[in-house]
Amino acid sequence: MAILKVARIGHPVVRQKAKSVDPAVIQTRDFQRFLDDMVETMHEYDGVGVAAPQVHVGLRVAVLEVPGRDGRGGRRGVPLTVLINPVVTPLAKKRLIDTEGCLSIPDLRGMVPRFEKIRLEALGRDGRPYTLTASGFHARVIQHECDHLDGQVYLDRMTDMKTLGFLDETQRFSEGAVPCP
Ligand code: NI
Repeated sequence: MAILKVARIGHPVVRQKAKSVDPAVIQTRDFQRFLDDMVETMHEYDGVGVAAPQVHVGLRVAVLEVPGRDGRGGRRGVPLTVLINPVVTPLAKKRLIDTEGCLSIPDLRGMVPRFEKIRLEALGRDGRPYTLTASGFHARVIQHECDHLDGQVYLDRMTDMKTLGFLDETQRFSEGAVPCP
């Protein structure tokens, strides 16, 4: 396993549309190792998700995991999930606004509207398709990671740029740290 270097905005790979993964490669040792490396990288940077373009790989792959009971606003945990060729469908028109950060945009946080409830269809690390529904913060992280696969970052989704701020400044005026997808 290896910790991968995270690309920040400014590097073109973060803004490029990622390519679909050929399902035939999912079971290969190299691809499985890449998934392990993405998970290790997410853990190393204390993120709750990372997408392949963020580690300089233009493929439609993301991993996410939200630890439970970690002091992050009392959110319920989300188990480690591998998303390959994911498709997100909103299940409700309602959007919730909440704080987001991003490993590719260090030190900053901003308020971002996201669909409250979504359906995710993707392939897992065994190559098999799965479907799940997610709401709240879980749905937010999925939408954030899937945006990365289309070259989008949370800044593009913000509706009030005045809410953008440096974490260490905003923490002085709000409660708790916000995890970084
Ligand atoms: Ni991100």
